Amino acid sequence: MHIISLIAVTVATLLLPGPGATADTNRAIFPADFDKFVLYATYDRGSSKEEAFALPETIELSKSGNPLPAGTRLVLGIWTDYKLTGYFVMHKGVDWGLDVEEERRTGDWHFQQFGLDKQVNRTAIADRCESCHQSQASNDFMFTIDRMRNYLP
Ligand code: HEC
Repeated sequence: MHIISLIAVTVATLLLPGPGATADTNRAIFPADFDKFVLYATYDRGSSKEEAFALPETIELSKSGNPLPAGTRLVLGIWTDYKLTGYFVMHKGVDWGLDVEEERRTGDWHFQQFGLDKQVNRTAIADRCESCHQSQASNDFMFTIDRMRNYLP
């Protein structure tokens, strides 16, 4: 076998989920229309900061008090050492919850991490996103819902 194809096979093997790892489908994508998103909440913690973005129509819908509809995307900009380092995305679709094991399910939301280039970064971290956001089940799995509902353009 040529050394290059040997490396390719090895890399492919490393990328496969290991024993105990889950290979849930993750449909969350970075919004192509991110330029239309509005900053509705900032969580400033000195050198680190988080910025929450949503479409104006999402913010408007949140004021009804109902869970946000399928198709909703939420973006959290992650700042470390005073620099934007990447994005966290929540994306909801019809019955997407069925793709996720029941004990880790967060309604129909999928969670994904993206780099500054808006490409997927470390898919495996979704487990951690889900377990923390599960605590917010009564708020449609969101931590920023109050800030969104109270946001005035
Ligand atoms: C340890 C808990 C924890 C983990 C893990 C976590 N989050 Fe969050 N998330 C929060 C909190 C708290 C907020 C509210 C903003 C803040 O306080 O900085 C938030 C806010 C968000 C928001 C804004 C919408 C909302 O829910 O209010 C998105 C989007 C988001 N997180 C996505 C993710 C993604 C994607 C991951 C995994 C890559 C993740 N989160 C991991 C706690 C967590």
